[in-house]
Amino acid sequence: MMSGPRAYPLWLRVWHWANAALFLTLLVTGLRMHYSAPSFPPIDFRVSHLVHNAAGILLTLFYLLYILGNLFLGNGRYYRIVSGDISPGLMLQAGYYIHGIFLGRSHPFPHGPDRKFNPLQKLIYLAVVFLFFPASILTGWGLFVPDKLPQGVLGMPSFAFWAIAHTYINFFFSLFMIVHVYLGTTGETLGELYRLMWFGDAHGHEEKGSPKGEGTVRA
Ligand code: HEM
Repeated sequence: MMSGPRAYPLWLRVWHWANAALFLTLLVTGLRMHYSAPSFPPIDFRVSHLVHNAAGILLTLFYLLYILGNLFLGNGRYYRIVSGDISPGLMLQAGYYIHGIFLGRSHPFPHGPDRKFNPLQKLIYLAVVFLFFPASILTGWGLFVPDKLPQGVLGMPSFAFWAIAHTYINFFFSLFMIVHVYLGTTGETLGELYRLMWFGDAHGHEEKGSPKGEGTVRA
């Protein structure tokens, strides 16, 4: 059975799916505003604007929840880079995703009490959660309260700066989502990681052939 604290506790699952729903809402309403034209009417512009702002505020609060959970509820330990993660970890994991997975090879970095993310996943989540996510939120707030901020940034009118930065950062985020949803299917079965993220790991997981029977998830 899985030893140690649960890797997918309730607070994390609530955060994750609320975050995903908010993100999709922000994507749809953001695209609606970006491509705003009278000939593109599926959602009223003012409704998009209102919903986007409300979802952005909620997303900021949920983001803080995830940071607190990482700081105080133990999830942060999965982000710690440990020996072997960079080299040979990144190459091994990339090789697994590129061909090992199609040959039915076993995962090079199975889950254990201190490992939920494989090295590549860890690096991507580190960049996404601690760099791109705050950048997305900060530039969103820059657009939300432009009058309260300096009028020029990097020689550009501040509103233009926030708008361009916010758009590019979130185009990147949309690409991340596509890769993220695919990699979510690369557990031991297609649905395993989704099941864990939805139902949690209350009943633990037996690793096939594990001498200690430690919990294992193949991400
Ligand atoms: C429909 C949208 C989404 C789906 C289907 C989805 C699916 C999943 C699945 C199956 C996992 C578990 C596998 C793992 O531990 O890596 C996961 C974890 C994760 N997802 Fe998503 N996700 C979605 C949206 C997002 C968004 C928008 C973000 C934004 C940052 C995100 C960030 C994360 C993070 C950080 C984890 C690891 C959480 C942790 O264990 O600490 N996901 N996701």
